[in-house]
Amino acid sequence: MALPPPADGSTCLVTGASSGIGAEIARELARRGHGVTLMARREDRLRELAGEIEKASGVKAEVVGCDVSDATARERAAHEIEMRGLAVQVLVNNAGFGSAGRFPEHREGQRHIDGAKPTWRRWWTSAASTCRA
Ligand SMILES: NC(=O)c1ccc[n+]([C@@H]2O[C@H](COP(=O)([O-])OP(=O)(O)OC[C@H]3O[C@@H](n4cnc5c(N)ncnc54)[C@H](OP(=O)(O)O)[C@@H]3O)[C@@H](O)[C@H]2O)c1
Repeated sequence: MALPPPADGSTCLVTGASSGIGAEIARELARRGHGVTLMARREDRLRELAGEIEKASGVKAEVVGCDVSDATARERAAHEIEMRGLAVQVLVNNAGFGSAGRFPEHREGQRHIDGAKPTWRRWWTSAASTCRA
């Protein structure tokens, strides 16, 4: 699906960004001018990648350590992202759960949202709750 154009203060949250597919997706998003927020358990690897991305692409690369299989850690991470003032425009939920779509239209999001306003946070915390470490 086509990505929205990068917006001021927006970020693409990539879970499982410390290696493999997640790291490559983060690099590609940055090459296209999107700010990225890198999430995984190994923060040292995330910090290294964030430095590489900022140097190569000139976008803002944030690091948020989180074990996405832990509900408390997910809540803490979501709070941290919001406290940093980051507007999550794109969610790449690479650590564990495979599906794609716009937040408001997404079947999984609808199932968990129960009529409340759909947001990346609601979608992510419900989708990630199905992950296993
Ligand atoms: N490679 C393939 O050919 C292929 C094909 C189809 C589907 N997939 C799927 O695509 C995804 C990524 O594959 P990959 O090959 O890139 O794997 P990978 O190199 O092993 O990367 C997995 C990433 O997920 C993170 N992760 C794992 N458990 C986590 C947890 N509990 N909390 C937070 N982050 C966690 C790891 O970081 P930390 O260890 O630092 O937390 C790492 O960054 C997987 O779900 C895989 O099943 C892969």
